[in-house]
Amino acid sequence: MKLEDKLNETVSFLAAVEKNKPRIGLILGSGLGVLAEEIANAKKYAYEDIPHFPVSTVEGHAGQLVCGDLGGKTVIAMQGRFHYYEGYSLTEVTYPVRVMRELGIETLIITNAAGGINPEFKAGDLMLIADHINLMGANPLRGPNVDRQGPRFPDMTEAYAPELRELARQIAGELGYSLQEGVYVAVFGPSYETSAEIRFLRTIGADAVGMSTVPEVIVARHAGIKVLGISCITNMAAGLGHKPLSHDEVMETAEKTKSKFSKLVHEVVRRI
Ligand code: HPA
Repeated sequence: MKLEDKLNETVSFLAAVEKNKPRIGLILGSGLGVLAEEIANAKKYAYEDIPHFPVSTVEGHAGQLVCGDLGGKTVIAMQGRFHYYEGYSLTEVTYPVRVMRELGIETLIITNAAGGINPEFKAGDLMLIADHINLMGANPLRGPNVDRQGPRFPDMTEAYAPELRELARQIAGELGYSLQEGVYVAVFGPSYETSAEIRFLRTIGADAVGMSTVPEVIVARHAGIKVLGISCITNMAAGLGHKPLSHDEVMETAEKTKSKFSKLVHEVVRRI
């Protein structure tokens, strides 16, 4: 079945959501799904019930679409996302973003857990994504172009909207802390990096490393959606911290940071 036809079927299934005219989409990363619980008048759709949606498998990812009101806006939130390392194609990983676009989303706020590469960072920091490097070795737009969503060769300069970054900086300041800002590099995973790989990533200009986000951002920018990206630095990357890396450490830091993170995103949504 063509991607366009699948999208039509998914959007018909979500017709009740479309009627509420959501304009802001949220993708909530590892351990950061709590914000979805603050959505009022929520309609929830388990991924497995949505036609053509892949199903999430990783611990810490609830796997549902939550639609409702947040900060005076109608939003659609993905509580849990799909990762390339789980075995999905990038077409599957980014399918929900295409659906959001069909539902009328104009702004996407995308979050993740990431390892800190910039030596000035520390676990628990939040980093605004200023730009990205795609080292996943693949692009989600490969294959026939969906012309109704965007052009064959989309521009990626200023993929992360400067005005949204400015708004987030301002709000963090009001909340009493400052945000880090830097370049996010997306790798394949699921193994964490070696120390040598981290030195390489630092050399090519990365400040944080993770296994998500970039595919979704590429598809969002293809469709002209404005993007705000925020990484929770859950650990210092390999060779920069003191212990071996573990998913438990990532989840633990995400858990500790979630209230700071949720307040920030909630306020950004209110003021967009
Ligand atoms: N590397 C890659 N992905 C990650 C990391 C890391 O150190 N921490 C959280 N996600």
